Amino acid sequence: MMFKLTLGLSLILPALCQTLPTSFVLVGDSTTANGTEPNSGGWGNGFCGSTVTGTPSSLVPGTPCINTAHNGATTGSFVADGFWNISLATIQGEVAKGRRTLVTIQFGHNDMKIAPPESMGANLTAMVQQIRELGGEPVLVTSLTRRTFDSDGKIQDALGPWADETILISQQQNTHLLDLHAASITYCEEIGPDPSHRLNRTPDDNTHLNNNGTIVFGRMVADLMNASFPGQLPIIPNPPLTFNITHGIPSF
Ligand SMILES: *[C@@H]1O[C@H](CO)[C@@H](O)[C@H](O)[C@H]1NC(C)=O
Ligand SMILES: *[C@@H]1O[C@H](CO)[C@@H](O)[C@H](O)[C@H]1NC(C)=O
Ligand SMILES: *[C@@H]1O[C@H](CO)[C@@H](O)[C@H](O)[C@H]1NC(C)=O
Ligand SMILES: *[C@@H]1O[C@H](CO)[C@@H](O)[C@H](O)[C@H]1NC(C)=O
Ligand SMILES: *[C@@H]1O[C@H](CO)[C@@H](O)[C@H](O)[C@H]1NC(C)=O
Ligand SMILES: *[C@@H]1O[C@H](CO)[C@@H](O)[C@H](O)[C@H]1NC(C)=O
Repeated sequence: MMFKLTLGLSLILPALCQTLPTSFVLVGDSTTANGTEPNSGGWGNGFCGSTVTGTPSSLVPGTPCINTAHNGATTGSFVADGFWNISLATIQGEVAKGRRTLVTIQFGHNDMKIAPPESMGANLTAMVQQIRELGGEPVLVTSLTRRTFDSDGKIQDALGPWADETILISQQQNTHLLDLHAASITYCEEIGPDPSHRLNRTPDDNTHLNNNGTIVFGRMVADLMNASFPGQLPIIPNPPLTFNITHGIPSF
C-alpha cells in the first residue's frame, strides 16, 4: 500500500508539474512582435524561434509558441483593431487541445503616448480576466527598455510608470509577472551604449531589435519565465548566453 502510494505520487506529481504539454501565446506591441513589418522586431522570435530568420527557439522542439503581438498597438487599439480577437481564438484553440496555455501580455510603449498608466491598467485587467475565462494563464510582462542613454551611461527611462502599472495589475489580479523592464535596464546599463545599440533593428532605432537583439532578450524572457515557474516549463537552457546576461557581458 505504502509502496503503491509513493509510486503513484512519484508518477503523478512530475506529470502535473513538469510534463503537462504547454503552449505559449504572446500578446503585445512591436517590442514583442516578430519583426516581419518595418518598425517592429521584439523579443518574440528569440523566445519562440523563427524559421524565417533562422533564430533558434528557447523552447523544447514542438512547443507551440504563437506570437500574436502587433506593431504600434496600445492595449486599446489591439482590441479595437481585432488583434485581441485573434489572440483569444488562438488561446481557445490551444486550451481545446488540452494544453497548459501561458499567455504573455506586454504593453506600454504606445500606451504611454496616448493616456495615463491607469488607462492601460484597466485594459490589462480586462485582458487577464478574459484569458482566465478561456482557461489560459496570463503572465504580465513589463516593457522592454528603450536603449537611449544619458551622458552618465544611465538609461533615459520614460516607461517606468507603465512598468509600475503592469506590476500593480499583476498584484491585484494575482498573475505571474516577468519584470523585463528592470532586467533589460540592468543589462543595458552594464554592457553600455555601444553594445546595447548593436542590438538595434537599425542603428538609430533604440526601440526595436535585430536578430542578435531578439536572441539576447528572448533568452532574458525565457530565463525570467523559468524563474517564475521553476522547473515546470519546456524551456531549453542556454548557459553561456544566460551567463553573459547575468554578468553584464555583451554577447554581440
Ligand atoms: C512572423 O509571423 C508571421 C505570422 O505567423 C509569419 O508569417 C512570418 O513568417 C513571421 N516572420 C518571422 C521573421 O519570423
Ligand atoms: C483602453 O481601452 C479603452 C477602450 O476600452 C480605450 O478607450 C483606451 O484608449 C485604452 N487605453 C489605452 C492606453 O490604450
Ligand atoms: C471581437 O469579437 C467580439 C465577439 O465575437 C465581437 O463582438 C467584436 O466586435 C470583435 N471585435 C472586433 C474588433 O472585430
Ligand atoms: C529553470 O529553473 C530550474 C529550477 O530553478 C533550474 O533547475 C533549470 O536549470 C532552469 N532551466 C533553465 C532553462 O534555465
Ligand atoms: C558571450 O560573450 C562572449 C564575449 O562577448 C562572446 O564571445 C560569446 O559568444 C557570448 N556567448 C553567447 C552564447 O552569446
Ligand atoms: C550579429 O552578431 C554577429 C556576430 O557578432 C555579427 O556578425 C552580425 O553582423 C550581427 N548581426 C547584426 C544584424 O548586427
